[in-house]
Amino acid sequence: MCGIVGYVGARSVVDVVIDGLRRLEYRGYDSAGVALVYAPETGEPYLEFDKKAGKLANLEAVLDGQDRSLEAACGIGHTRWATHGVPSDRNAHPHLSADGRISLIHNGIIENFGQLRVELEASGIEFLSDTDTEVAAHLLGREYAVDGDLTEAMTRVCARLEGAFTLLAVAADDPDTVVGARRNSPLVVGLGDGEYFLASDVAAFIAYTTEAIELGQDQIVTINRENGITVRGFDGQPSEGKPFSVDWDIAAAEKGGFETFMAKEIHEQPQAVADTLRGRIDETGQIVLDEVRMSDQDFRDIDKVFIVACGTSYHAGLVTKYAIEHWTRIPCEVELASEFRYRDPVLDRSTLVVVISQSGETMDTLMALRHAKDQKARVLAISNTVGSTIPRESDAVLYTRAGIEVAVASTKAFLTQLAACYLVGLHLAQVRGIKYADEVSAILDELVAAPGKIAKVIENLEPIRQMARDLAAAEDGAARVLFIGRHVGYPVALEGALKLKELAYLHAEGFAAGELKHGPISLIEDGTPVVAIVPSPRGRSLLHDKIISNIQEVKARGAKVIAICEEGDAITASHADFTVETPASPTLLAPLLTTVPLQEFAIELAMALGRDIDQPRNLAKSVTVE
Ligand code: AGP
Ligand code: GLU
Repeated sequence: MCGIVGYVGARSVVDVVIDGLRRLEYRGYDSAGVALVYAPETGEPYLEFDKKAGKLANLEAVLDGQDRSLEAACGIGHTRWATHGVPSDRNAHPHLSADGRISLIHNGIIENFGQLRVELEASGIEFLSDTDTEVAAHLLGREYAVDGDLTEAMTRVCARLEGAFTLLAVAADDPDTVVGARRNSPLVVGLGDGEYFLASDVAAFIAYTTEAIELGQDQIVTINRENGITVRGFDGQPSEGKPFSVDWDIAAAEKGGFETFMAKEIHEQPQAVADTLRGRIDETGQIVLDEVRMSDQDFRDIDKVFIVACGTSYHAGLVTKYAIEHWTRIPCEVELASEFRYRDPVLDRSTLVVVISQSGETMDTLMALRHAKDQKARVLAISNTVGSTIPRESDAVLYTRAGIEVAVASTKAFLTQLAACYLVGLHLAQVRGIKYADEVSAILDELVAAPGKIAKVIENLEPIRQMARDLAAAEDGAARVLFIGRHVGYPVALEGALKLKELAYLHAEGFAAGELKHGPISLIEDGTPVVAIVPSPRGRSLLHDKIISNIQEVKARGAKVIAICEEGDAITASHADFTVETPASPTLLAPLLTTVPLQEFAIELAMALGRDIDQPRNLAKSVTVE
């Protein structure tokens, strides 16, 4: 959940670590800290640390005031998203061993910290924080005292820990070394020229190198200025990571001239969707996944699909249900990952579980995946993060190619998830012989046209921005906003409401339009804004007629209706107070277009209310706890 950086090399260590933390701050931002090891020409090496509650800027202010005449030999840094203990200076990382000679940072949760703490306290150790992490710092201090080898000590400590952890540690007596370990939390290594980086993701070091190594589960890595990189397993045996080159550059991690990352990412959506669709069909017209560890026969044997995800990714799953059932005629259920394994779902070898996760590290989704695998189900992952845990543990993978998504509120990841989900639906239909190549290519043609249409929607966002500003300015105008939709418009309504909640901190709810009359319609008061996602009047016109009735029902009770509808839809225009038009599209694919004005509505309203757009309160980008 947090951002972690470690560095050994000739650059200014504190600058590299802080720069890396700045790029990772989206992962967690309730406190930050660094530990630096100094090796003066005369005298003993020593360790210094600073940590501060609040955003990274608070830590930077402390560091700015310090004397920098001696450069550190190595260092580690952390931005925290608290799980155990309130965000405060004392709970911020790093944490120290009892003698103060070892410093450690942690991402994740050490589940057996309670019993370890009792054991350590019984041996006389005094704890200075409420975190689960501190037990690892003390254990490491104790083990290091045995043989003065930080890697060996880390290996012995990992054998005692349960749960999810990426740990980085430095020792005052070993100034050229940083040791890292990972289980169930991310850690990548950056390879420079005589310099080495450890980080939660490559964004931390792409300013310096694009060469990286992905670490596997239960691996320990040591970076040392002289000896370079060594990797071993938790069992102590030599091992290795998987080298890869990062194919995006530093500019991608910057705001590119936009006021916020989210605004930039909204504008990147046409490209992101196009990239996700590009080159997915082989010469025989078959859709190809990125990694497949299951046979065509396995796909043919599938008789039930579960889609499992959280938040926005879950909404992508809800849309996909309509597509999969329509295209493949296989029953498809969609589940929140955090609920999935606790209700004992019926899974077997012929069940396909599709897990969707932008980060590829969401713990709820990972645990659901593992539960599905325990039950022998096949798992297909859709993820935006190459080499992350969820795709690695799945039987088949399709990567979205959204590029890094920095804003906590997901935008381009969602649209690319939709694109990837459509491809998975078509792949399933093809393998099972339900759709011929020409039918698939007709749908693909529509998909390939989507980026151009998304770009048109983006060009036309000023009216919805104005609407959002007016609502923010009106007294109590946006105290509550309701979103309604039918069919695939229903998950879009849920997504619109989620965006508004997380960004603007407003009460927003999405409803299946037909459900309003069963209760929620009592929320409507004079002037309550209701955003209606209206399907095309062509094709399934029945749906269109029904939502027009729903619009009338809410209007009759005083609602102010903002309709997202297809261009030229005169009927909707005559009923709604305000319309935003999107280009014509097949009903199933319409969410690629209708979601975009809702993203803009949320960002604009939140900006007018002075909210922190890229880092909304209480949230984190990558939720690696259950
Ligand atoms: C969306 O704006 C959210 N920030 C959140 O709901 C997110 O989609 C969810 O936490 C799932 O993340 P994942 O896709 O990385 O698994
Ligand atoms: N569990 C640790 C804490 O609460 C680490 C949280 C994180 O990953 O940021 O401090």
